[in-house]
Amino acid sequence: MKKNLLITGASGFIGSYLVELALKKNYQTIAAIRPTSNKQWLKDPSIQFLELDFKNDQTLDHAIREFVERFGQVDYVIHNAGVTRANKNEEYDQVNCDNTIRLVHALQRNNQVPEKFVLISSLAAYGPAKNEAPVKSTDLKSPLTAYGRSKHKAEEFLYTVKDFPFVIINPTAVYGPKDKDVFFLINSIQKGFEVYIGNKLQLLSFVHAADLTKAIFIAMESDLVHRNFLVSDQQVYTSQAFNQQIKTILQKKTLSIVMPVSIVRTVAVFAEIVGAISGKVPILNRERLKEFQAPNWAVDSSEIKQLGFTPKYNLEDGLQDAIQWYKEQGWLS
Ligand SMILES: NC(=O)c1ccc[n+]([C@@H]2O[C@H](COP(=O)([O-])OP(=O)(O)OC[C@H]3O[C@@H](n4cnc5c(N)ncnc54)[C@H](OP(=O)(O)O)[C@@H]3O)[C@@H](O)[C@H]2O)c1
Repeated sequence: MKKNLLITGASGFIGSYLVELALKKNYQTIAAIRPTSNKQWLKDPSIQFLELDFKNDQTLDHAIREFVERFGQVDYVIHNAGVTRANKNEEYDQVNCDNTIRLVHALQRNNQVPEKFVLISSLAAYGPAKNEAPVKSTDLKSPLTAYGRSKHKAEEFLYTVKDFPFVIINPTAVYGPKDKDVFFLINSIQKGFEVYIGNKLQLLSFVHAADLTKAIFIAMESDLVHRNFLVSDQQVYTSQAFNQQIKTILQKKTLSIVMPVSIVRTVAVFAEIVGAISGKVPILNRERLKEFQAPNWAVDSSEIKQLGFTPKYNLEDGLQDAIQWYKEQGWLS
């Protein structure tokens, strides 16, 4: 019998990788979507779709009852739906925290406590490293941004729920084919610009989406519960090394520009105003700026490694893979 796996946020960047691996691993894969979700990455005919509306308890109860009628019990849930950028800070709490609480309560109310509930949180829930050592899963969490705080609140809630087996995944920056955030940096290098904010040397960590997905399934299928797992490719990079990798792959020379923080903040305020008027969420806002300013985003991902996670991609190979895809898709000329 196939196990039923519900994946929320299935239509997004990471969600589409989760769906792909779930199918490969022979789960009955139920992709939770909204009526407005774009299904461009969800073409496999074996995918089962479920409209899951987080609006209130009734809509969630309805979706879970439909799930049980169509597929049977809920064996696993990967709760991946979330917002990483928003025009209003309240939206982070509503989507990343309140929806998590509502989903957990709906599963409990409908007697569908899964074998494992996996929350896709973020390194942002921990915040950057407090000193030169990488962030560890046992570190005190002190998120820097509204996004990080919303993920942290969702995590805190999970730790209070009784008889509910869960694990929390805290990925660092995720990149790979289909991603739009790291693509923005790659595209600016393709256009000949290498931008730094302030003059700080930033330590960074990354994970390719295909590797992150492997790590998520390892944690989900393990016997461990009530744990956080930080996930990266187990390396630390400087921002300069990151840009250098992209320049080498693209064979580009760039103009290196160090932007003063005050100017970037003004640009961010302007972008927020445009975002508020147009309804489009800008790639840069003052919250994002805080992330760009933090000196150390390195992580210690040894706990997921101990469970057998070995990433396929280091940054060089992963960027090659992503850039080749961007070229094939016509995103990069
Ligand atoms: N990308 C990263 O570097 C990164 C790093 C750490 C953690 N994460 C976490 O990973 C998860 C996926 O991120 P992503 O990068 O794949 O983002 P994404 O491409 O923007 O996908 C977000 C997904 O969440 C869904 N979603 C958003 N708001 C929703 C709502 N109110 N109700 C129901 N569904 C909603 C979206 O559905 P629609 O398609 O209908 O909009 C989409 O499927 C998020 O929880 C994020 O916080 C991402």
